[in-house]
Amino acid sequence: MSVLIRNGRVVTAADSTVADVFVDGDKVALIGARLDVEADREIDATGKYVLPGAIDPHTHLDMPFGGTVTIDDVTSGQTAAAFGGTTCHVDFCIQGRGQSFAEALAGWHGKREGKAIIDNGFHIAVTDLEEGGSLEELATLPEQGITSYKLFMAYKGVLMVDDETLFRTMEVATKTGALVMVHAENGDAIDVLVREALAAGHTEPRYHALTRPPELEGEATHRAIALAHIAGAPLYVVHVTCKDAVDPIAAARAKGWDVWGETCTQYFFTDITDLDEPDFGGAKYVFSPPVREAWHQAVLWDAVRTDALSAISTDHCAFTLSGQKTLGKDDFSKIPNGAPGLEDRLRMIHHFGVNEGRLSLNRMVELLSTNPAKLFGLYPRKGTIAPGSDADLVIFDPTRKTTISAATQHSKSDYTLYEGTEVTGDVDLTMIRGTVVVEDGELKVEPGFGQFVKRAKFGEQLL
Ligand code: URP
Ligand code: ZN
Ligand code: ZN
Repeated sequence: MSVLIRNGRVVTAADSTVADVFVDGDKVALIGARLDVEADREIDATGKYVLPGAIDPHTHLDMPFGGTVTIDDVTSGQTAAAFGGTTCHVDFCIQGRGQSFAEALAGWHGKREGKAIIDNGFHIAVTDLEEGGSLEELATLPEQGITSYKLFMAYKGVLMVDDETLFRTMEVATKTGALVMVHAENGDAIDVLVREALAAGHTEPRYHALTRPPELEGEATHRAIALAHIAGAPLYVVHVTCKDAVDPIAAARAKGWDVWGETCTQYFFTDITDLDEPDFGGAKYVFSPPVREAWHQAVLWDAVRTDALSAISTDHCAFTLSGQKTLGKDDFSKIPNGAPGLEDRLRMIHHFGVNEGRLSLNRMVELLSTNPAKLFGLYPRKGTIAPGSDADLVIFDPTRKTTISAATQHSKSDYTLYEGTEVTGDVDLTMIRGTVVVEDGELKVEPGFGQFVKRAKFGEQLL
């Protein structure tokens, strides 16, 4: 099957030109003005953008967490992704206590078997090096295409690791060519603050943020950077929310250290006052690190513009308000942490970033697609539009108006963080490896279409 996309504005991280794109089979074959080729199908993209499919480096589908399991499994989460122009994501495979990494990965592969809509890879989240996986086993994972190690510096007693585990994992990453990822918050101090708040009778959602102050994100970020530098490992700090964490990342990058950071869509648009939404509505905004005072949002926009932060992910970790978030009705610490977002990232960042003059179109593509592809070993197969790259493409109408609502989203969550938000610019068509996956508001492929992607080692290219 071949497809000729005519006369769209083809936007990559570097260029923006009106051109035709010829897709032959699963690859982009040619890009040029008025291409003289025959194709099985022609699509007129006049007035539209042709973008590389967005890549989400941070998602949690079908994950047990907070006394329940995320409401989106692989099929529903990836359907939401496809409607939002995301063609590939990297999900976290979480090592259970006492589990080897092989056992954990077998479980996560099982979750996607016959269910995948879009392509995905896995990061491995290291939680237990004593009774479960060993450093030796960890060292073998990059050869299987699992080229990033994630460590949680928070969630004490659940996912959190100590500094020895963090540091030893970093040393392995240095040898094996993996990228180390950290959830950077000081979990010990948070644990004390949570117990003190509950003892004082403070049970409402707002205490989620008050017990996780920005200084504790800044401290953990600084610590992770220092440890990674000593170990010689490249470091990627996930879901950065505040100036306290942006500053040490920017300082390390200014020194030329191998440190990168991401923020997530929601941190540009939600703030600490949202936790006070009546009737327990504040629980929708309980995720970690927490919502911050609103002034941090300008810091984040500046950071993604100047490359202090290099990617925007979703941290899609969806629960329902009714039935799941309500587990914490009488105790904020029992509200499952996380929120949906896979469907909304591109249109929210396009509208509030590009339309409102905070980001160029090229920078948007870089933050949502090219940099995640480069950092996580997917580039240049994915993350750009070039001859030989996978035909993972989005035809995006920059004039189409949409009102975001839970009633029309594809996540199984009963809410969206952006209910009622009007955006200009939305996805018309999503294509993965040359196959149309979403068009005319309909899903065009069956579960099982999405492929597992083995990723290249850090700094190497996937050809
Ligand atoms: O609240 C969040 N972010 N839930 C998902 C787990 C994590 O920390 O990324
Ligand atoms: Zn996290
Ligand atoms: Zn996460």
